[in-house]
Amino acid sequence: MTYQWVDCDRHTVSGRYDRIAEFIPFFDRLLFLPGDMRRKAVVRLGLRRGDSVLDIGCGTGVNFPYLRDAVGPAGRIYGVDISPGMLRKARQRRLRHGWTNIELTECDVVDYTTPEPLDGVLFSLSYNTMPHHRTVLRHAWRQLRPGGRLVIMDAKLPPGWSGRLLLPFSLWLMKRTMLGNPLIHPWQELAEIVAPVDMRECLFSSYYVCCATKPAAAAASNDNDARAVARQIAAE
Ligand SMILES: C[S@@+](CC[C@H](N)C(=O)[O-])C[C@H]1O[C@@H](n2cnc3c(N)ncnc32)[C@H](O)[C@@H]1O
Repeated sequence: MTYQWVDCDRHTVSGRYDRIAEFIPFFDRLLFLPGDMRRKAVVRLGLRRGDSVLDIGCGTGVNFPYLRDAVGPAGRIYGVDISPGMLRKARQRRLRHGWTNIELTECDVVDYTTPEPLDGVLFSLSYNTMPHHRTVLRHAWRQLRPGGRLVIMDAKLPPGWSGRLLLPFSLWLMKRTMLGNPLIHPWQELAEIVAPVDMRECLFSSYYVCCATKPAAAAASNDNDARAVARQIAAE
């Protein structure tokens, strides 16, 4: 039997997340998300004090404490999300902690460009929810500076018979909840852009953090592109 995933348009994704924003911590538990996955993902970014980082599909801002610890008060955190309901919670979190260096934007991330080249880009449980993931990935990659890192943390089906057994349930659950397509392989899509991709799996290979560093030479022109885009935006 062949299983398929039907992509949703951006309004459906945004509306779905507006409705489930209240229940995000519950979903973490339902899907057995290991407690330290987010911290591990941020560690892989290799951020330093004063760095700039983009959190793609930042949701309720649950990664902000780790990102903020990494870049410090002088760093910049850009959070983008398509769901107003999720972003409302992210804004509340920012206000509660008095974080002044987090800029939040509500839009489809493919339409967003940061005002500066980035030291890190994070997809935390968000990559599979984006039907245009390949376009988003390339757009994000272009905004990284040479030496910058891109990290994708997400769930995946374990290999072999257990993955095949879980697939129908996973499709059923995702269609009704987070809209994350379990059939795509983000680490392979990242490997189409750059090698090597560092892949670390845990919990019987059902979660992973993959990471790639933008090479200095190849990235130089992209960095210039990012600066040119930033200058154009500033001029508008
Ligand atoms: C499963 S949640 C993950 C939230 C958060 N990153 C976390 O680790 O808990 C996926 C998020 O991606 C956002 N998202 C999906 N498609 C998007 C898009 N095209 N542009 C921006 N955000 C998007 C959703 O609104 C949602 O908040």
